[in-house]
Amino acid sequence: MPEEIKNNTQTTEKKKRIFSAIQPSGTITLGNYLGALRNWVKLQDDYNCIFAVADLHAITVRQDPKVFKQNILNAYALLLACGIDPEKSMFFIQSHVHTHAELAWLLNCYTQFGELSRMTQFKDKSQKHADNVNAGLFTYPSLMAADILLYQADLVPVGADQKQHLELSRNIAERFNGIYGKTFTVPDPYIAEVGARVMSLQDPTRKMSKSDENVNSWVAVLDKPETIMKKFKRAVTDSEARVCVGEGKEGINNLIGIMSAVTGKTADQITAEFEGKGYGDFKTAVGEAVIEELRPIQERFDRYINDKAYLEEQYRKGAEFALKISQRTLDKAMKKIGYLPK
Ligand code: TYM
Repeated sequence: MPEEIKNNTQTTEKKKRIFSAIQPSGTITLGNYLGALRNWVKLQDDYNCIFAVADLHAITVRQDPKVFKQNILNAYALLLACGIDPEKSMFFIQSHVHTHAELAWLLNCYTQFGELSRMTQFKDKSQKHADNVNAGLFTYPSLMAADILLYQADLVPVGADQKQHLELSRNIAERFNGIYGKTFTVPDPYIAEVGARVMSLQDPTRKMSKSDENVNSWVAVLDKPETIMKKFKRAVTDSEARVCVGEGKEGINNLIGIMSAVTGKTADQITAEFEGKGYGDFKTAVGEAVIEELRPIQERFDRYINDKAYLEEQYRKGAEFALKISQRTLDKAMKKIGYLPK
């Protein structure tokens, strides 16, 4: 177990605790990377971090069993490749830790129908999958709240699209604490300034999403360099032909945002650098910067995914630790509700 987390289970907490998770969809995008994963890696030294592959969440849309199984393993390997370090952080697969589903059920009974109905992601996804508007899709935020509250997390690093779900997690925690006394830490969102909302390359008014049918709208972390370049070259821009942030320039704003997140340069620095140059040059430069950022991750991914024994060892260890910590919170919540101890 990472030393810090071990200590925290026994003595007083020094560093703040962080929880976050990602769904194992086939494609982990540049949006996921810039909006979340990259920040998780950076936070590992300053916080006690707990990360998960949220595979229980993933079946709210239909999955092919064989493909799903591979996607879960790929996501675990890819996060390691991005820099999640199991010596520093607790890192597990959600379905391996039964407390998540159990607390989710309890929290469902402290979550209002009206609250869930207001979730924009539910509205979007139920439109997109009109033939499968299942109860899990609707109650998904209670499971997300359970993920976070089980570990008494102080902070949750996410992209801007998850903010509404996080607010609901806070409301659920406060409601439960209000009825039974302090049981859960009320978590704060942790949304980075740069990269929190990476937009589609084809329709920059919408977020970059793997569920977008147009493959040119997203870049996958594992896309080949030539594919990445092709997608950036096809990115939608405007007719002004000036690399600067502005109204009605959503495409260029997005590309500047990506460039800034990857290189650490400010929008002004980028504008100065590309003064007098056309969009073609700029798109190529953004493509190159992204390719270089992702290259070492892709190389490490190839190594991890071919070492099944190592992956298994890590996710087993991660699940064991996660169960130990989360079981305590679950027991506490059940006791408060009035369940008989086993
Ligand atoms: P998911 O799997 O959709 O996305 C994982 C993370 O990536 C961020 N993200 C983005 N950030 C910037 N620009 C984008 N275009 C973009 N697309 C995605 C998301 O905000 C997220 O941080 N329900 C969650 C997973 C989850 C979770 C949790 C997160 C399950 N339990 C508990 C936090 C805490 C989800 O579906 O994320």
